[in-house]
Amino acid sequence: MRKGILLAGGSGTRLYPITQVVCKQLLPIYDKPMIYYPLCTLMQAGITEVLVICTPTDRPLFESLLGNGHQWGIKIEFAIQAKPEGLAQALIIAEPFLNGSPSALILGDNLFYGHLLQSTLQLANNSTGATVFGYHVANPQSYGVIEFDDNNNAIAITEKPTAPKSSYAMPGLYFFDSNASNYAKQVKPSERGELEIVDVINQYLANKILNVTLLSRGTAWLDTGTPDAMAEATQYIAAIEKRQGLKVSCPEEVAYLSGLIDQKQLVDLATPLLKSGYGEYLLSLINKNFLNEIH
Ligand code: DAU
Repeated sequence: MRKGILLAGGSGTRLYPITQVVCKQLLPIYDKPMIYYPLCTLMQAGITEVLVICTPTDRPLFESLLGNGHQWGIKIEFAIQAKPEGLAQALIIAEPFLNGSPSALILGDNLFYGHLLQSTLQLANNSTGATVFGYHVANPQSYGVIEFDDNNNAIAITEKPTAPKSSYAMPGLYFFDSNASNYAKQVKPSERGELEIVDVINQYLANKILNVTLLSRGTAWLDTGTPDAMAEATQYIAAIEKRQGLKVSCPEEVAYLSGLIDQKQLVDLATPLLKSGYGEYLLSLINKNFLNEIH
């Protein structure tokens, strides 16, 4: 069974002073903490065992918010990243947790929403080798960028290139086979002093076991790296939720609809949340008929 790694460390300096005492992934995106979004993405992929990696200071806060996951029918464990020494380090820290399992690594500040997302995630969960995603963006130079040949095969992935070879950025969600921790151990620190995730992914590419799945333009991949990006993400989620009367990335709902928790457990979760309206929403899910929606 594939296990999830949710990386929620980092220094958050680009959001100072907001993140001087509270880490970014605990800040709200509209009506819920940011970390709920990537956690739900993992759950929607069908993952039920997750390791949250965070700083030593933030660990008690994450533990208090998420517990051991039992309330949502999943298992959550915690591990520490003492310093933000790179995304690939998460794969080394997670090695004992993974214990030979394949993994899905997601960044705690990446939000995904959209048409066919759930089936795309489930396909990636069932894939072999590694699967990464490509997403058309206006500013590829801020991300890992995927270069394609004339037949649309990925030929290179470069971290924040000054002259990007395509407009396809690689979002912070990666599916790896059970060799990822070993590949991560081969990586040397980059010029910015980090173990870069692209250096892990390029090893899969060199071994011809990398799948690149393009996310359609009907999918939203939102960044939350700056105050503007956070405000835009909040506005986006608010607009969708108000229009549909449905919540985006609500772990209680994902757990209930996937059969991870039953009706009684949902009611128990809703009760302390009634004052905010969130609990009322959870109760409204009981007996709701979603017809045959395509996810
Ligand atoms: O968001 C997608 C991008 O994320 C990818 O396209 C890039 O290839 C990837 O390198 C990464 O780019 P960033 O430079 O934007 O990552 P950043 O340093 O902002 O870190 C992303 C999140 O991960 C952030 O919330 C902090 C956390 N983090 C970061 C590092 C370096 C950690 O928890 N530990 C770390 O060591």
